[in-house]
Amino acid sequence: KQLALTVLDEVDSTNAEVIRQIGGGVTGMPVVIADCQTAGRGRRGRVWQSPRGENLYLSLGLTFHGGFGVLDGLSLVLGVAVANALEGLGVSEIGLKWPNDIFLPDGKLGGILVELQGELEEGVVQVIAGIGLNVHMSKVDGVDQPWSSLDRACPGVDWSRNRIATAVIDAILDALPIFADRGFPDFRAPWQKRDIFKGQPLQARGGDLEGNGVGIDEAGNYQIQTANGIVPVRAGEISLRVA
Ligand code: ATP
Ligand code: BTN
Repeated sequence: KQLALTVLDEVDSTNAEVIRQIGGGVTGMPVVIADCQTAGRGRRGRVWQSPRGENLYLSLGLTFHGGFGVLDGLSLVLGVAVANALEGLGVSEIGLKWPNDIFLPDGKLGGILVELQGELEEGVVQVIAGIGLNVHMSKVDGVDQPWSSLDRACPGVDWSRNRIATAVIDAILDALPIFADRGFPDFRAPWQKRDIFKGQPLQARGGDLEGNGVGIDEAGNYQIQTANGIVPVRAGEISLRVA
């Protein structure tokens, strides 16, 4: 499918812009990149800090056939694609934090936000995949956890955002047909090998569930080894926190 690429100086959210383009009947796969976002968003209404000129803010409009059920694991698949792209550019030690964060050893490097747009027709679903990656960010307010950026963690590499965007889009376009044809299973092992929770003491459900991280199951749920056995945790509802 032809890409419909838009590069903007400023936008509220690249995800919101893709939604508007879909509403406006864009032809091709919408891809939006912006130099800054005034209302960048994370999961559950959280803010994605999006300063000008420093980072990558990228969203794609994706279409899948087979109903909403085929989307299980999509944000993990995108995480694997982003990790592959960054490793191809020379970063080692990319970690993935279930369900949607991209990590380096010193903190959160980026995040993925998958939003459901709706059903175009019976069984044809549209989603917006947004990816934020810190590239040159040297200071930021309003981030309540350790964060990282590519040029700080991995100096001496050409961190041009065009180059990163190209690598990330290519990796996503490589992964999507595999995911569409075969579903999540092929991505389980590549996700597991970057799992930052593995073997860590975790808690979920507001502390009601405690145990050690085991990894994801074949559907992409995170599994915790508790005193009463392995318990799978679904994406969307809860956060895992290292205890
Ligand atoms: P979880 O989803 O498990 O609750 P989380 O705390 O990372 O994890 P998300 O909704 O995935 O929550 O991400 C939003 C959070 O990311 C914000 O609350 C903030 O702590 C952090 N954040 C915001 N902007 C940035 C940024 N540019 N770089 C790194 N981290 C950021
Ligand atoms: C998260 O960790 O909560 C996900 C953050 C996703 C941020 C990206 S930046 C590009 C796209 N546009 C948005 O408003 N959010 C995503």
